[in-house]
Amino acid sequence: MSTPPKPASRVSVSTFDDMKRDARPIVMITAYDAPTARMAEAAGVDSILVGDSLGMTVLGYDSTLPVTMTDMLRHTAAVSRVCTRALVVADMPFGSYQASSDDGVANAVRLIAEGGAAAVKLEGGAPVAPLVERLVSAGIPVMGHIGLTPQSVNAFGGYKVQGRDAEAALRLVHDALTLEAAGAFAVVLELVPAELAAMITEELAIPTIGIGAGTGCDGQVQVFHDVVGLGAFTPRHAHRFTDAGALITGALAQYAAAARSGEFPAEGNLTHLSEDVLAQIETALPLVAEED
Ligand code: KIV
Repeated sequence: MSTPPKPASRVSVSTFDDMKRDARPIVMITAYDAPTARMAEAAGVDSILVGDSLGMTVLGYDSTLPVTMTDMLRHTAAVSRVCTRALVVADMPFGSYQASSDDGVANAVRLIAEGGAAAVKLEGGAPVAPLVERLVSAGIPVMGHIGLTPQSVNAFGGYKVQGRDAEAALRLVHDALTLEAAGAFAVVLELVPAELAAMITEELAIPTIGIGAGTGCDGQVQVFHDVVGLGAFTPRHAHRFTDAGALITGALAQYAAAARSGEFPAEGNLTHLSEDVLAQIETALPLVAEED
């Protein structure tokens, strides 16, 4: 008798450490609902980020700033319900940790307890380190995020590459080291020059996950809609591996044409009454109509 295949074990924060040690690239992608999470898992990604990018990819906002805890909880729970292997990381939205670290702890607890995430991600360097420390001592794994942090888009004056001059680059190195010392298990480097990302990766014992930061990182993260062609445009740091938008539009156009021509629904899509029931209805119908 053949033994059943062993279920793939869940990816945990310590798997991230192992992967860095063994130089196995960590693959992370965003997902925001059950179908996208199922597809990401079926593709074998190591981690799913329920990013606040959902504000732009699925809610139609032009930034991540309006995303609320209610949004994040609903989408995180949808992803967590169907994930069996990937490490689910939930983004802490703008306003959920900026006012006080008590807010930050309470909201992170909700993303884990109600949303079912295994870890949270928050944006910022040294200034958020005290909050990272508190979360880690409360048993909540934290992923840092430095470089272009979209919640600070107004302070940056746009979605621009960060760390281009020596002073800014060294500040990012300091931020990364401070997050590591505070207990973060990994750090996202968004839109930083490739040489700088590689240097930070060398300096840190924890993994770096790059987006627009080159191949010198320990892993990559991308936005689901960018890589499958569901976004309004493809940013320079992304690659469109398929054009799902065109495929889906084509399928919907076929559906519309078939519904208009009467080709759909076909015989296999419907149910018939038995002759007996049909006869009973036909007999009773004039009486029912008369009563009405
Ligand atoms: O919200 C998000 O999708 C992110 C990634 C771009 C890292 O933070």
